[in-house]
Amino acid sequence: MGKTNSNPLFGEIKYDTKILNHLDTIKGKINGKNHDCRVGVLEFHPTDDCNLECNYCTFKNRDQKNTFPFSGLNMLEKLQPKAVFIAGGGEPTTYMSEGKGFNDLTHRLKEILPQAKLALTTNGQEIPKGDWLQYIDRLRVSIDNSNAEIFNKIKGGDLQKSISSLVHYLNAGVPNVGAGFVFNKYNIGEIYSFTNLMFEEVFNKAGQSVRDKFNLQFRPTCRIESCKCPSPIYKDDSTIMVYDKTSTEWGDTVKKMIDEIGANSNKGFQKFIKNNTNLNQDTSIKHNNSNPLFHYNNHQPLKFDKCYISLARTIVRANGDMYPCVIKASNEINPKSNILKDSAKKIYKDQMNYFNSKEGYCKGTVECCIINGRKNDIVMKVLNAPSFEIPEYSKVDYFF
Ligand SMILES: C[S@@+](CC[C@H](N)C(=O)[O-])C[C@H]1O[C@@H](n2cnc3c(N)ncnc32)[C@H](O)[C@@H]1O
Repeated sequence: MGKTNSNPLFGEIKYDTKILNHLDTIKGKINGKNHDCRVGVLEFHPTDDCNLECNYCTFKNRDQKNTFPFSGLNMLEKLQPKAVFIAGGGEPTTYMSEGKGFNDLTHRLKEILPQAKLALTTNGQEIPKGDWLQYIDRLRVSIDNSNAEIFNKIKGGDLQKSISSLVHYLNAGVPNVGAGFVFNKYNIGEIYSFTNLMFEEVFNKAGQSVRDKFNLQFRPTCRIESCKCPSPIYKDDSTIMVYDKTSTEWGDTVKKMIDEIGANSNKGFQKFIKNNTNLNQDTSIKHNNSNPLFHYNNHQPLKFDKCYISLARTIVRANGDMYPCVIKASNEINPKSNILKDSAKKIYKDQMNYFNSKEGYCKGTVECCIINGRKNDIVMKVLNAPSFEIPEYSKVDYFF
């Protein structure tokens, strides 16, 4: 703990530095050595179909519900990612194309990209049949709630099913298993009850040998009050947002949450908060100004000169369209490449055009979101500090 604070380049940001594992890819493209479209991380959306309807979902307004053709999966070979994050769009475990389901999809991905680590985010409403789990390095069940009634109201599903799936995955030998909680002004007050539920129902009931594989990840729901989000889809969703950390509403709710957590005298619970959640990753939870949970929810000017993310990661949507980030992807913004139709050269060119903020592609800092922009800021700082060594805590995995 505290390592990040001692790092003069970044202050307290920890998760964002994982992009530094892809400096080789970024530098290769900038120097023109790899004239191909290889990326470090592929975020792959196999289907837009979903068995839930989360009222805050980034992709809830998608125009069409597509599914990536099974016979087109070999096209992903062009990207040669070190890590594939299977996500959505919709719910990946409901994938069905040409008579092939999620188990076939996972086997095929491993066949095409044997070197890549696979991660999955799922809502946990269904556990797909088959032996696919052997290929999954990390798995997150998105839960976002601790109350069965509210879960059903805002997501349209069954909380207990998601919890049971989580327990199943934890006991099934997946190396890293997490529960996700995206917070906004409505559910921030539930962080304590959610953490306690996960502690009692999942962590405490899991065998000793698997407990340290489990983590809770708290992330802000887009949109964030003072983030100058350029995304048209969030314009109408200001009701589901994360208030700035300086606002009274936010301060009061956060104080309540911290008091609730502190009032739980169970030593095991406090240890769980410290070791298995990102509530206390960097510093004491009492210092809420520097707590990771609150890093993002106030505006900080972005200073990066280029979009480094566009060289290191790509999102491939269910219809094959490719975007550098979730803002572009969720608004289906042009220009874009398509993995099913375009050559590696064209894809590379588009990546470089986003990188260089070419007219018509992206306006850089003006259009970027805080969450992505901070990663770009970090890469720029590191490239300007050649003697910088990537911190050990960033080397844990390729996903970012
Ligand atoms: C869109 S879901 C698709 C994958 C899968 N159905 C699931 O629930 O994990 C991918 C992730 O995005 C998160 N998410 C949804 N809407 C969001 C928003 N407005 N801001 C931030 N994250 C969001 C979800 O909680 C989930 O962890």
